[in-house]
Amino acid sequence: MAPASASRTGPFTYSLLGAPGRVLRAMASNQLARFAPALYVRLTGQTGRGAAAEEAPADIAQYFRDCVDAYFEQLRIAPADVPGFLAGKTLMEYGPGDLPGVAALMVARGARKVYCVDRFPLVNLSPKNARVLGDLIDGCRGQERDRLVACLVNADNPAAGFAPERIEYLVRPSGLSGLQDAVDLVFSRAVLEHVDDLAATFADMTAALRPGALAIHQVDLRSHGLHMSNPLDFLAWSHTLWQLMYSEKGVPNRWRIDKYRSILQRLGADVAELQPTKLAAQEHVSGVRATLAPEFKSLSDEDLSWLGFWLVMRKHGG
Ligand SMILES: C[S@@+](CC[C@H](N)C(=O)[O-])C[C@H]1O[C@@H](n2cnc3c(N)ncnc32)[C@H](O)[C@@H]1O
Repeated sequence: MAPASASRTGPFTYSLLGAPGRVLRAMASNQLARFAPALYVRLTGQTGRGAAAEEAPADIAQYFRDCVDAYFEQLRIAPADVPGFLAGKTLMEYGPGDLPGVAALMVARGARKVYCVDRFPLVNLSPKNARVLGDLIDGCRGQERDRLVACLVNADNPAAGFAPERIEYLVRPSGLSGLQDAVDLVFSRAVLEHVDDLAATFADMTAALRPGALAIHQVDLRSHGLHMSNPLDFLAWSHTLWQLMYSEKGVPNRWRIDKYRSILQRLGADVAELQPTKLAAQEHVSGVRATLAPEFKSLSDEDLSWLGFWLVMRKHGG
């Protein structure tokens, strides 16, 4: 990644001079991800949440429960009201990662069906993920438990996969669902910062939503480990070089909050909430300013400081 001395030269120049081996390796692996995505996912041990070996099944299961709780807290729906809200509804999740644990919990809590849309074939019904599902099932009682078990083709063998009438996995190279007026709630966590065509994803979700239906997203605008000394210095790479190194790998697309605002203004939807979850320190904003790639130079300090946000939007009509 760009060295700390980057401010003395333009971003394209210093990144090539500073890390040619890294740039060439990243470009080569980008081509592997492009032409053999399943192999790339296997070689890199991708789960969507990070390196596969690091987490225990109970921790992963708790992560999924926390995600579900956070969605409803953000939507201001009390836990006791969640089953009533979800009853009979069709949901769609972008980017579930290697296990649709949130989708399974949404069905357990009352949703009729969840479409899980992903650009990469990450889903992996490994023995470890079977233990995660076991933990999720053990954490449910009564009807919730019955509904969760019904998500599986065979409850005794989670590796047999999910019942498509409850959880339908749509792996599309575009990352788009293609659904029309079919969904009552769209959700995602740590996904929109990875999508390659943000405007297309927002258009897809708006088309998929029924009139008046909600979408909720948690977006992480941080570097995902791709910065050096300043959490914002990954914005110094030129767009061309970033694309050459990372376009096929699902690393951050680097779009800032101004891009989201501009897309949202053109959508047939109202923004109910757009709140930062984390802001960069002013010293980091000022420190990166001189090295920013051209597409980020016109950002205000405030917009540059956004390192994550919650978005809730409602499709017009209904
Ligand atoms: C960081 S992971 C997050 C996984 C999961 N939501 C979680 O919180 O653990 C990003 C996910 O987005 C998916 N993804 C990347 N680009 C996408 C796109 N254009 N459309 C849909 N999903 C995409 C990845 O394959 C992966 O499943």
